[in-house]
Amino acid sequence: MKKLFLAILVVSGLSGEDLRAVFNTGEQSANLLLKTLGGELKKKLQEGDLKGAIEFCATNGLSITHQLDEKLGENISIKRISMKNRNPDNLPNDSEAKILYMLENSPQSILTRVSDGSYKLYKPVRVAKPVCLKCHGKGEDMPEVARKTIHSLYPQDRATGYSMGDLRGAVVVTIRGE
Ligand code: HEC
Repeated sequence: MKKLFLAILVVSGLSGEDLRAVFNTGEQSANLLLKTLGGELKKKLQEGDLKGAIEFCATNGLSITHQLDEKLGENISIKRISMKNRNPDNLPNDSEAKILYMLENSPQSILTRVSDGSYKLYKPVRVAKPVCLKCHGKGEDMPEVARKTIHSLYPQDRATGYSMGDLRGAVVVTIRGE
């Protein structure tokens, strides 16, 4: 069985069992987002149209995330963040940025307790597949069409220069009390 470690950064009133349930809710929600976005991206790439795949991510990345956010109900919110974000909406706030630094060396998700009593699960997202490099890699890894299309859609893009295994960002799931 897969080992699960819980990193709780602030002492919580919940029992271990309840915390595990919060952790699992966060983990499942994050997996659902990654699966949905990854599946759609894969479909586009299989059509062999890299430019189309980029345009698809640009048009639908946030709206797919918002749709899932709605579907998960009012007690759960979900988003993606990165220190080197492409979409300006995916910029972390100060406390989120601190956790991103911790995730650099953590294969596991991190659960934190927020001062309002809610919890935040941070699931690390790594450059785990060579295909990520086509749109997030170093100069030589990115086909010219990818560089051009991304630059025209995101003039302030910071999400390139990655190598395999690097931390690309995180999915953040906020779980509020009942
Ligand atoms: C076809 C090009 C393409 C590929 C391949 C691709 N991405 Fe992206 N990625 C994008 C675009 C475009 C965005 C911005 C989406 C938006 O505006 O919502 C993005 C955004 C992201 C974000 C959100 C943070 C940010 O920078 O805004 C993460 C995390 C991410 N990608 C991870 C990955 C990972 C991991 C892989 C490999 C499994 C991957 N991407 C493959 C184009 C791509």
